[in-house]
Amino acid sequence: MDIVVRTFDNKPERCAYTLCQLETVLADETDMTAGLANASAVLKLLLPDLNWAGFYMLRDGGLVLGPFQGKPAVSRIAPGSGVCGTAAESGRAQLVPDVHQHCNHIACDLASASELVLPIRVNGALYALLDMDSPVTNHFDKDDLETMQPLADAIGNWISKIIGE
Ligand code: SME
Repeated sequence: MDIVVRTFDNKPERCAYTLCQLETVLADETDMTAGLANASAVLKLLLPDLNWAGFYMLRDGGLVLGPFQGKPAVSRIAPGSGVCGTAAESGRAQLVPDVHQHCNHIACDLASASELVLPIRVNGALYALLDMDSPVTNHFDKDDLETMQPLADAIGNWISKIIGE
C-alpha cells in the first residue's frame, strides 16, 4: 500500500481524494483497530497542517481514546469535558478556530491551535468521534463541517459493515 501525497488547489478536491484513499484502506479490513489505525494515518498524511488525527470511542457514556496519529493524548474524557466531551454530549460537530480562546478545551499537544471534531454515527447513533488538531489558528472553517463530514460518514459506514449493524 503506497498512498501518493498530492497537492490540491482547493479543499473539496483534497477531501474527495482523501475520501477515496480512506475507502480503499478500509475496503477489505474487518478489524476495528486495524481499520481505524490506518484511517488515522491516511487523514494525518493527506490533510495538510495536522498535528493530531484520531478517534475517541463512546464507551459507557464517556469517551475512550482510539487509534490516532500524533502525540500521546488523554485516554478518557467525560461527557461535556473539553471539545470532544462537548461533541459527545451534544452529538454535534465542534469547530474551534482558536483553542487558546476556548475555555472548555483539553490541551494534549501544546502545538495545537485549532480543532475540528466530527461525529461518527453508526445507523444514526453516535458511535465515535473523529478529532483533528492543527498547529495553525483558523485552520478549520465552517465549510469544513460540510466538506469533511463525508470522511467521518465513510468511517461510520465501514464500522456499520464490520459490526454487522
Ligand atoms: N482537545 C481535545 C482533547 C483531545 S486532543 O485534542 C487529542 C478536547 O478538548 O476534548
